[in-house]
Amino acid sequence: MPEGLTVVQHPVLDDRLAVLRDASTPHGAFRQALSEASAILAVESTRDLPTVARTIDTPLEPAPGRRLEAEITIVPVLRAGLGMVDGFLRLLAGARVGHLGMQRDEDTLEPTGYYERLPPGMGEAYVFLLDPMLATGGSAVAALDMLTKAGARHLRLVCIVAAPEGVAAVEAAYPSVPIFTPVVDKELNAQKFIVPGLGDFGDRLFGTI
Ligand code: PRP
Ligand code: URA
Repeated sequence: MPEGLTVVQHPVLDDRLAVLRDASTPHGAFRQALSEASAILAVESTRDLPTVARTIDTPLEPAPGRRLEAEITIVPVLRAGLGMVDGFLRLLAGARVGHLGMQRDEDTLEPTGYYERLPPGMGEAYVFLLDPMLATGGSAVAALDMLTKAGARHLRLVCIVAAPEGVAAVEAAYPSVPIFTPVVDKELNAQKFIVPGLGDFGDRLFGTI
């Protein structure tokens, strides 16, 4: 198992992943399962965020507490990453949200960036790149290139299904970026789809099949 890879294990996450994989799941239920799976991944991928000791005034007397005061930015990769945003924001309501548009060319399978809008303070923020499918890793590496160019230093990648090839590509290009995923599947097929995977994520999420 590569060092930077965390395969998140949780029975509720297993259940939501099964719903996402099921070809008969309609897009409404797919979205719901994705949102819940993303919230669990948000919990797991924020485990090491720094907190600051604060004295909290309860109605009775002061109590010691800890607050999360780190600047947090989530960056979904369009389009499929959009479906992970609300699960993350349920936990991290104060996070800033950047957007990266990335598309795999259906013939060359190379990713091209078509949109970038990132919030200020990328250098200090804990940046969570959200892209549900890590297939060849081309999109994730291109997105990490864009984020690094924008000054991001504390990066992590969160996905829903990863392929061994994608994990290896990210590890080779960005060995210090941790990857969080519920599962690493068997392989890629000739069209570079993840097998068994769950099909075209964006199409299933937005009902564009
Ligand atoms: C999907 C997915 C990833 C990419 C993964 O996006 O959301 O961004 O493919 O493939 P890779 O690891 O081989 O680069 P897609 O290009 O289908 O665009 P969409 O989100 O707009 O549907
Ligand atoms: N993009 C998808 O949506 N699905 C895959 O299996 C691979 C890339």
